[in-house]
Amino acid sequence: FDLRKHSQPTSDAVRDAILAKPGFGDYFSDHMAHVRYTTEQGWHGAEVVPYGPLSLDPAAAVLHYAQEIFEGIKAYRHADGSVWTFRPEKNAERFKKSARRLALPELDTETFLDSLRALVRTDAAWVPTPTSDADECSLYLRPFMIASEKFLGVRPSHEVDYYVIASPAAAYFGGEVKPVSIWLSQTYNRAAPGGTGFAKCGGNYAASMLAQSEAAANGCAQVAFLDAVEHKYLEELGGMNLFLVYKDGRIVTPSLSDSILDGVTRSSLLQLARESGYTPEERRVSIDEWREGAASGEITEAFACGTAAVITPIGELVTPDDRIKHDTDATGPVASALRKQLLDLQYGRVEDTNGWLT
Ligand code: COI
Repeated sequence: FDLRKHSQPTSDAVRDAILAKPGFGDYFSDHMAHVRYTTEQGWHGAEVVPYGPLSLDPAAAVLHYAQEIFEGIKAYRHADGSVWTFRPEKNAERFKKSARRLALPELDTETFLDSLRALVRTDAAWVPTPTSDADECSLYLRPFMIASEKFLGVRPSHEVDYYVIASPAAAYFGGEVKPVSIWLSQTYNRAAPGGTGFAKCGGNYAASMLAQSEAAANGCAQVAFLDAVEHKYLEELGGMNLFLVYKDGRIVTPSLSDSILDGVTRSSLLQLARESGYTPEERRVSIDEWREGAASGEITEAFACGTAAVITPIGELVTPDDRIKHDTDATGPVASALRKQLLDLQYGRVEDTNGWLT
C-alpha cells in the first residue's frame, strides 16, 4: 500500500474529543485504503489516501443496481498499546464469497489483510484506548467494494473500487449493556432461498430497513426475520445473528443456509461455548419453539450477536399478538459469561489459545 499521499491530520484536540465519546459510525479517521480493479488490469494501485468524498459518475452501476458488498471488523487496543483485529481472515473469506454472489471480482486474502494493516498503521492514533474493562471502544473498520463502471446495461461491472474506512466506535446500542426489545417482522422477509442472504451486500440491509422502521415504531431496537418459505423458522436480525439459551446447557442458533449470514462472532461463540462445556447446536428453530420454551422456562435467555453488537441480550420479542419475555432488566448469566470471554480475548486480557488475533 502506497502511504505517501497523507493529508493534514485532524487536530489532536478534536480527535481526543471524538475518541472520548465516539458513538457508532458517526466519525471517521483521516485516511482510507483503496484498490482499483479493471477487467484489463485486475487489482492494482493499492494506496492509502486522505479520507474524503468519492467522485463517482452518476451512471456508476452501484448507484443503480446495488452491486456492492462490505465487511465489518474491529481493531482493539490492548493494555500495552498494541492494536489487534479478531479473525480478519474469516472476514476476508466471507468477502470473497460475497463477491462471488454479487458477480464482483474476488480480492485475495493477503491484499484484504494488508489494506487493514495499512489503514490501521496510518491512523493508529484513531484506535481508542479503553478506560476500563467495561469500556468497549474500538476502531470499527468497514471494507467495501463497489461497481464503479459508467454503464446502465445490466451486467457485472468491468470497473470496481475497493475501500476501507475506519470509524472509532463505542457500543452499537449505546451506553451500558442492557436487554433490548426485538420486533418480529410478519410482513417482510430479509432473504429467500437462492437469494443473497448469506452475502454481506448492501441490498440485504436496504431490504431490512422498512421492517427496522416498523420495529422502531413499536419501541424495538432491532427486527427479527423468519424464513421466507414457511414463515415459521428463525433466521436472523436486521444486522446480527441470534442465539437461544436452554436451561439444560444447550445454546441454539439457526443453522447456516443461503439466507443466513455466516457471522464471525456467531462462529466464535459456537466454539467458545463448546470449550466452556455448553452444548452448542446449529439447527432450525421455530418461533413456536421460542414462544413455548420461554413460557415453560426451558429457554432461559436469548441474545443477538455480531461484530458491532458483540453480544446484546434480548429482553423480549414483540409480535403484533404477544410478547415472548426474558429478563428485560439484566443480561442473563450465560450471555454475560460468553460476552466476557469474547471481550477478554479481543482486548488481550486472556491468552489467545486459538490464535484468533492478528
Ligand atoms: C457488523 O456487525 O459489523 C455489521 O456489519 C452489522 C451492522 C448492523 C453494523
